[in-house]
Amino acid sequence: MTTKIGILLSGRGSNFLALHGAMERGDVPAHIALVVSNVAEAAGLEKARALRLPTVCIPHRLEPSREAHEAKVLEALRHAGVEWVCLAGYMRLLSASFIAEYPQRILNIHPALLPSFPGLEGQAQAVEYGVKVSGCTVHLVDEGLDSGSIIVQHVVPLRDGDTAESLSARILAEEHKAYPEALNLLLTQRWNIVGRRVVYS
Ligand code: GRF
Repeated sequence: MTTKIGILLSGRGSNFLALHGAMERGDVPAHIALVVSNVAEAAGLEKARALRLPTVCIPHRLEPSREAHEAKVLEALRHAGVEWVCLAGYMRLLSASFIAEYPQRILNIHPALLPSFPGLEGQAQAVEYGVKVSGCTVHLVDEGLDSGSIIVQHVVPLRDGDTAESLSARILAEEHKAYPEALNLLLTQRWNIVGRRVVYS
């Protein structure tokens, strides 16, 4: 049996689809055991249902607190036997106690070359700053904002006249390659964390 992955998403779900496709092709020794959305209208949730994957919607707005919402998400992940969590456009910060349930087993993808341009709209931040290269970063999730250990980065050069939209489209194409690559690396290699670096042995 391959590793059981839980996907957390809030929106369109293209990174989720890229991960799922890579798993189906046998490029990543894993399968999706559960897709969780905190947004009922998320297109990604609909895509997961169409693929007949197990899904659950747990709207945060219906919960009295962050803790209460996270407790429900964790319960669903545990019930599905999820071993690793991949955040795929999940628009909520995870608390330290959530992260402690999956130590160094939660991945996220960010549309910039961290530590540059963390937070929202990394692509627009890059265009406005005037950098010549940007890209995407797959990283382990810690308590900070986009601050965990870096697993894979793909570089995307900026072009004259780039807008946030045009850059986003080219970065997204790289995200869809980088995320499966990073998950595969961590599932198939021996590694540990030294300081904040991932060291492979
Ligand atoms: C991606 O740009 C990802 O880097 C960021 O949120 C976006 C999610 O897109 N964290 P999608 O829902 O996977 O299409």
